[in-house]
Amino acid sequence: MRLLLSASILSADFSHLADHIHQAEEAGADWLHIDVMDGHFVPPITMGPLVVEACKRVTRLPLDVHLMVTHPERHFESFARAGASIITFQQEATPHAHRAVDAIHQLGCKAGIAINPATPENVLLYVLQQVDLVLVMTVNPGYAAQSFIAGMEGKISRVRQHLDSVNSTAWLQVDGGINTETISLARHAGATNFVAGSAIFSHPQGIKDGITSMRSVLGD
Ligand code: DX5
Ligand code: ZN
Repeated sequence: MRLLLSASILSADFSHLADHIHQAEEAGADWLHIDVMDGHFVPPITMGPLVVEACKRVTRLPLDVHLMVTHPERHFESFARAGASIITFQQEATPHAHRAVDAIHQLGCKAGIAINPATPENVLLYVLQQVDLVLVMTVNPGYAAQSFIAGMEGKISRVRQHLDSVNSTAWLQVDGGINTETISLARHAGATNFVAGSAIFSHPQGIKDGITSMRSVLGD
């Protein structure tokens, strides 16, 4: 499976968003990661469907929408309409993960489920065969530029084993504190899809170097 890099625009300069997205696309980002925060599930408020729609107009990259919101089901339709390709919700935000995955599929999008650092991976067991993506959060959601939490490699490899045991081809995504060092740890633990924000958009040598330095660690 090709290893994918999803560039998180949370760390982009929003006064030059289209330009930053173009730079990430040209440098070889595979997906664009859009962090939606509602001020309830996590303290900050970030972006909504309007920003997704704006991104859609300026890029062909798949839009990877990460919902860090309570009642995520209320918002699937508006994000699908805005142009999301993948919609990922937090397992902790709904008691109805199975229904949520179905609802996302019915809207024609790929469905992802995310788990926080303190959430055990066994909550995924009965939706593993249904989802297109599992996101293991490697920081507590809410903010860019935090450090990868030590010990998350163990959880990534246990999720890898669970996915393999049901012959799932779902992407195993990691998000939070991914840089040229931690990307390698996550990859060896079995991740196939890597979200990075500050390591790309705040790279001292620019967006292109941020992406190429991580690609070279991945070796493709
Ligand atoms: C954190 C967000 C991440 C964030 C990652 O709550 O879900 O996607 O943008 O930022 P970095 O890569 O800087 O840790
Ligand atoms: Zn995210």
